[in-house]
Amino acid sequence: MSADFQSTYLFALANPGSEKALKLEVETMRLGWRLSYQRRGFVTFKADAAFGISALDTPLACARRLCLSLGKAATREGAIDLIHQAGADHGVDIPLIQQARYFERKMEGIPGDPLPITGQWVGTVVEVGETEFWAGLHRHGPSHSAYPAGDSGLVMSADSPSRAWLKLEEAARFFDLDFTPEDIVVELGCAPGGVVLALLNRGVSVIGVDPAKMADVVMKSAIATRDAESVREPWFYHCRKPAALVSKRDLGKDVTWFMSDMNQSPEVVLKECARFCRMTPSIRGVLITLKLTEITQVAEKSAWFETLREMGFETIRLQQLAVHHKEFALLALR
Ligand SMILES: C[S@@+](CC[C@H](N)C(=O)[O-])C[C@H]1O[C@@H](n2cnc3c(N)ncnc32)[C@H](O)[C@@H]1O
Repeated sequence: MSADFQSTYLFALANPGSEKALKLEVETMRLGWRLSYQRRGFVTFKADAAFGISALDTPLACARRLCLSLGKAATREGAIDLIHQAGADHGVDIPLIQQARYFERKMEGIPGDPLPITGQWVGTVVEVGETEFWAGLHRHGPSHSAYPAGDSGLVMSADSPSRAWLKLEEAARFFDLDFTPEDIVVELGCAPGGVVLALLNRGVSVIGVDPAKMADVVMKSAIATRDAESVREPWFYHCRKPAALVSKRDLGKDVTWFMSDMNQSPEVVLKECARFCRMTPSIRGVLITLKLTEITQVAEKSAWFETLREMGFETIRLQQLAVHHKEFALLALR
């Protein structure tokens, strides 16, 4: 498709309830986008000039998919026609159409649709009401989720002791994270162990920091001391103390990921992140669940990014996932 594909409007898919935070985020970034229309989990914007395809790369933490808007139809088939028509107008085949809908107070992707590959044009049909189907278009790339509403049709593992299992699994799919058996994760705020279980199931060993008790399902993989690691792979070491009391000796060598799910402010978590990165320079990735008092605090994101840049991280992404309420996933990679 020609690079001059344009639309007067673009739309964003978000968590229902995050629309206000999304508008504030757009304002804070001085993008010049103005709110045009909104439904639960669905917000359209316009600007002085038409949007080009590059506008869809704008990193918005509150939006899980941005599309050039092709308009709306009264039926799903009508919206699909709008997408094929737009393709035909530009002499381009649009091989993939994904669907999302507002259902049971969530904006969710409809499971079963194939996933896009990089460079592919993707049509998105969004069902926001019984007779309101919006049609959108974007080109898939590394900064876009393969899942239309960010959720992955995930069903929580029956043996998970907490919903945090979903946070790790959704983030791993959304950001396309690659963990290997050589990775060692340190997770602050690890009890009762949903994230630890998800990591162990992925073959990754974990040092979990939390004064609280862990669930039996993860203690099955526990090692008694940090240097007993060769006993079982993958292993879990419970460092049963507050994060501030953890020392270099507790961590040992070769930790590659810093994670946090502590109920603490972004400032406290980022301060601990900096301290842990100083103790273990082998950390290559950071994945933090930031817990906010109000989601409009997302307007402070540039300060969090700056703190991570000062720690030497270059790729930084902030994203509200489907599983989150007043939370965001903050990812940083070297
Ligand atoms: C939401 S829960 C974590 C859920 C956990 N990640 C899971 O996968 O099941 C938050 C945890 O943070 C822990 N926490 C809060 N402040 C902490 C601190 N300063 N150091 C370590 N853990 C802390 C709490 O004890 C609590 O268990």
